[in-house]
Amino acid sequence: MPNAIVFGATSGIGKQLANYLVADGYKVAITGRRLQKLNTIKTTKPNRYFVWENDVQNVENTEVVFKQIVEEFGSIDLVIHCSGIGYENPELDWQKEQDTIKTNVLGATRIYDLAINLFKTQGFGHLVSISSIASLRGNRHSPAYFASKAFQVNYLESLYFKTKEIKGGKVFVTDIRPGFVDTRMALGEGIFWMASLEKASKQIYSAIKRKNRRVYISKRWILIAWVLKIVPSWLMKKVM
Ligand SMILES: NC(=O)c1ccc[n+]([C@@H]2O[C@H](COP(=O)([O-])OP(=O)(O)OC[C@H]3O[C@@H](n4cnc5c(N)ncnc54)[C@H](OP(=O)(O)O)[C@@H]3O)[C@@H](O)[C@H]2O)c1
Repeated sequence: MPNAIVFGATSGIGKQLANYLVADGYKVAITGRRLQKLNTIKTTKPNRYFVWENDVQNVENTEVVFKQIVEEFGSIDLVIHCSGIGYENPELDWQKEQDTIKTNVLGATRIYDLAINLFKTQGFGHLVSISSIASLRGNRHSPAYFASKAFQVNYLESLYFKTKEIKGGKVFVTDIRPGFVDTRMALGEGIFWMASLEKASKQIYSAIKRKNRRVYISKRWILIAWVLKIVPSWLMKKVM
């Protein structure tokens, strides 16, 4: 039976992906801060879901939890990093900026490194992280969120390069870049090209199974990504 860890499985994309994994025969460690939600998920398949409460901002605890899961499961085939936050923060409120950096940069990096170091020892494994289309440019409404996503995609690319140091070619890194997905993260009415959680999660799960290096969700965001990469800053400043 393959084993997986989903960081940020209490709601949204992580919860949905954990559900697909269990349906596919995985044993899945589910983590997050909202213990009650994790325990409710566990009741649906008590022998397949394993609950660990964890705040990724607490990197020492993340390491403890990660090691406990590895000890319990023996080996890990797949680590999915879905934990993330984002705020509209035009006032540059420091608490929000700091919270975003601690979760999306500090917390994410700890998970990435724990996963890759484990996979190096094991000789196999797959690290998946949900970054964002937001990684491609800056944004005056949510500077920390957009910058944190740029950090994630660059770090993931570095880890992808690093996999060449691991013999056997059995360690993979996948960077998932969604546009808007209908979760609590995408607040607001009438959001542009919002994908349903089910549609987005199905596409993400297919990309995970294919072990894609990077993928935009849904596919139409490839076009937006292409435009974002070539538009000059002065024009972005005018329109965004
Ligand atoms: N929805 C979108 O439009 C969209 C677009 C692009 C990228 N993304 C990315 O997709 C990822 C998943 O988000 P989602 O849309 O599924 O939203 P979500 O439902 O809010 O899920 C976020 C998950 O992150 C966990 N989390 C947040 N802070 C945490 C912390 N300090 N420690 C541990 N877990 C923490 C949450 O669990 P607890 O609150 O229980 O801790 C929750 O399980 C995020 O990284 C987000 O940036 C989302």
